[in-house]
Formats: sequence, structure tokens, C-alpha cells
Amino acid sequence: MRKTYSSLGAESLNLILIGFGNVGRALARILWEKIDRLRGLGLSINVTGIFKSNGGFVDSNGLMLGEILEKSEQHKSWVPGASPLSHIEELPCDVVVEMTPTNVRNGEPGVSFIRKALEEGKDVVTSNKGPLVVSMKSLLSLAERKGCFLLYEATVGAAIPIFTVAREFLRHDRIICVEGILNGTTNYILSRMSEDKVSFDDALREAQEMGYAEADPTYDVEGIDAACKLVILANGLMNMDKHLSDVEIEGISRVTPEMIELAEEDGYLVKHVAYLDGEKMEVAPRLVPKNSPLAVGGTFNVITLNTELSGPLTFIGKGAGPRETASAILADIITIAKKRGGIKSGEHVA
Ligand code: HSE
Repeated sequence: MRKTYSSLGAESLNLILIGFGNVGRALARILWEKIDRLRGLGLSINVTGIFKSNGGFVDSNGLMLGEILEKSEQHKSWVPGASPLSHIEELPCDVVVEMTPTNVRNGEPGVSFIRKALEEGKDVVTSNKGPLVVSMKSLLSLAERKGCFLLYEATVGAAIPIFTVAREFLRHDRIICVEGILNGTTNYILSRMSEDKVSFDDALREAQEMGYAEADPTYDVEGIDAACKLVILANGLMNMDKHLSDVEIEGISRVTPEMIELAEEDGYLVKHVAYLDGEKMEVAPRLVPKNSPLAVGGTFNVITLNTELSGPLTFIGKGAGPRETASAILADIITIAKKRGGIKSGEHVA
């Protein structure tokens, strides 16, 4: 039986962060901001490694996050070329937080980082869709064999706690179908085109500047990101074994200002809608009545679960944004700490 964090007392929950882009930096900042609150819960978080593609910040006694955010690679803990694969074994580490960019072709490098962490008996939290889209079943069964957690709340709907709700409150129920808006960038673009008559290209540029878009924004505009999330929902909520090739995908690149205007004259909005049931999985632009629950603006996502016993349950929240995504990651870290006995239940961080 692997160690629990229960004996924490003066001990710390040691984290390794992999990926230091918008989300990784936002997580480091939130950990820095919340450090005292977390300590108040008896959860002393220590980040022993932060890795980027060209090296890492390493300190087995715990990194000074504020200094690293300020000084970046000028910080004394910076080790050029350092790889997370060797440091997962060497550094004090309870939870590996994997936040590298999504790669839907083979899930790398995220798959290798997650696999290595689980093989070493570490719990894992990820915001990276690629590894789950490519190998969700095998990664989850590796986690189970190793007695580890693999949590991925941040991968779908960012701040919307959809998997936690399903895990905690709907275990007795059956989800029959799922409908929603799963990509913040495309919803932001369509909203800006409709509400402010901004051009597609300008709205996309804004979404990139604010850190909503994927590293490769064609994943957003061509519907691939929403399709990835639909696959994760199918497998995570409905116990399916789906892949990207199972999803009919149409993005928003063919949506014109004229289409949006015509729809509005008839009381509709053009939205990029995702749908999933036992037979069909699709993402495509659709006409949505202005008073529909799907008529959310900006980076909001919406997810409706149609269930056997509870009827329709609709969740709305910020589906993109570094802080919203990092917030979901921190929630997963706290869930793990709580399940390992390292935090008292029923207490709040803020
Ligand atoms: N690019 C994604 C989106 C980020 O816009 O929804 C969150 O997964």
C-alpha cells in the first residue's frame, strides 16, 4: 500500500508541474496566492519541479514560485535541458500535474509523462486532452493497477466540475445523452461577431491574446478541441471507449457574418454545439433559439446531461482561460489530498 498524505502534519504535498505555458503559470500564481489558505487547511504544498520543453526549475526543498514567475529562466533553480522523465523518480513528488499542449495525433509528450508518473506510483492531475483522447482507457487502467488517481476535471469545460458532479452525485443514475458548447474560443468568436460585429480574424486574435485558444488555434476553429472534449465526456461519464474518429466534426470557419445576421433576424444564434448519445457523436455549428440554455456568450461553456432519474441537468461556466483551468486543476489536487487523508473534509480554501 502506497503512503497516504495523512501523516502530513509538518510534511508537505509535493508537486511536479509539467508545462509552464498560460495554464502552468496561472497554476503557479494561484498556488502562490493561496499558500496561506491552503496551509490553514493543513495542506502545505511544495512544488519541487516545474518543467518546460527546454529545461526545468528544480529544488527538492521546494521552489519559490513568486521568484520563478518573476525571473523565469534567470532564476537560480533553472536547469537547462532538465527532463521531467528522470526527475519524476528523483525529486520528492506525490502528484504530477501534466499541462503540456494537446497533441491529438499520438498524445505525446503528455502520454509518456503521465505513464511514467503512474508507473512510479504518483497521482496525476492533467489538463491535457491529447493523452485522454488517444489512450484514456489504458491510462485509467494503469492508474487503477497502481492504486493511483488520474483526475482530469480541467480537460472539459475548465471551471465546470462536470466529472466531479458525475462521480459524487450521479453514480446511481444513468446519463443518456449530453449536449453542450465545449469550446470557449469559438463561442467567444461567434459572440464577438454577433454582438459587436467584430471580424472572425480579429476575434480569434483577441482569444489568442487572452490565452483562451489552443497552442494551435485550428484545433479550436475546426472543431477538433470540442470533439476531443466530447470523447472525454463519452469515456469519462458514460463509460464508453470512443476516439476522435468516432466524432463527426465541423468547425466554425465557414460561418459568415451574413449567416449570423440572418439567424438573428429569425430569433436564433449560431452556436458551435456538441452532441453525444449511445449512437451519435457530433460537433457542428447549429441554430439555437435566443432563449435556449445553449445561448451563452463569451467564453462560457454549457453542458446539459440528460439523465434517466434526474432529468436534464445544465451546467454553465467559463470553459477557457488560464485561471479558470488552473482552478479546476487545484480542485483536483485538493480532491486527491482529501482522499489520501491529507486535508480535513468540509473545509474551503477561500
Ligand atoms: N482552447 C480551449 C477552449 C481551452 O477555447 O475551449 C480550454 O480547453
